[in-house]
Amino acid sequence: MTDNPVEAHYTSGTLGEAILAALKAAGKDLDHLTPDDLVPVDEFHGGQRPATIRLADLVGFTGTERVLDVGSGLGGPSRFLTWRYGCQVSGVDLTAEFVRVAATLTQLTGLVGRVDYRQGSALDLPFEDMSFDVAWSQNVAMNIADRGRFYAEMHRVLKPGGKLGLQEVAAGPGGAPHYPVQWARTPGISFLYSQQATRAKLEMAGFRVLVWQDTTAEALASAVARAGSAVGPPPVLGTHLIVGADWQAMFRNSARNLEERRTELFNAVLERAG
Ligand SMILES: C[S@@+](CC[C@H](N)C(=O)[O-])C[C@H]1O[C@@H](n2cnc3c(N)ncnc32)[C@H](O)[C@@H]1O
Repeated sequence: MTDNPVEAHYTSGTLGEAILAALKAAGKDLDHLTPDDLVPVDEFHGGQRPATIRLADLVGFTGTERVLDVGSGLGGPSRFLTWRYGCQVSGVDLTAEFVRVAATLTQLTGLVGRVDYRQGSALDLPFEDMSFDVAWSQNVAMNIADRGRFYAEMHRVLKPGGKLGLQEVAAGPGGAPHYPVQWARTPGISFLYSQQATRAKLEMAGFRVLVWQDTTAEALASAVARAGSAVGPPPVLGTHLIVGADWQAMFRNSARNLEERRTELFNAVLERAG
């Protein structure tokens, strides 16, 4: 086990086995899996695959980029980026179990050599200066208090002129979130900043904003649909396999927090200036 409370929050110890069993139960052929087969479970952020496509369209990939996915989770977004655009992607994540599952799912989808994963901290990225064309991060920052360091590390590993694509949960004007949520069962590991404060931190780290989109309305529509289906037994394949027994309360709170403007969601694309 781990001493890190964020890693402990995301670790079950049996996730790999649970996902493989669910894939079989869902009738998937494990010898011929595609990234699309994994979408219900491996896109672990608000809006799932459609949100990944929206952010990727904003970044504007050509396929030649070397990409770093910070907080890569089970690898859904990184596999999608290499599969759809042909980019070379590296993922880094704090949670050792997620890194192992990401590697297994990458092998099963035949993408070994195009995307790789390692365990590490977003606050001390295990990569050389100026080694990536694009840094990418979806629904990770809300577990990170030291945003100055988080953004400075992504700035360091980007080439000058490189782009940063972000999807983040922000604090809204409606007050503290209801817990549990997917990223935290208690406030101790949840660190939300307003969109305005986040933007200021990014600019201080040396980024120039190219695009900033408030996607709260889209996130709310998707969260309400998920909360509505979070009654009775769970689907065979879904992110409840990751979050555990309180998945229904988490799905409900996600919708409620957005509805009451306790949380907001945004996409941003920034450029390393200098
Ligand atoms: C909600 S999941 C999102 C995973 C992935 N980005 C996705 O969208 O499918 C949050 C992820 O952030 C990772 N994480 C949280 N704090 C981190 C840190 N300091 N360094 C690296 N990864 C971190 C967690 O381990 C987890 O995989």
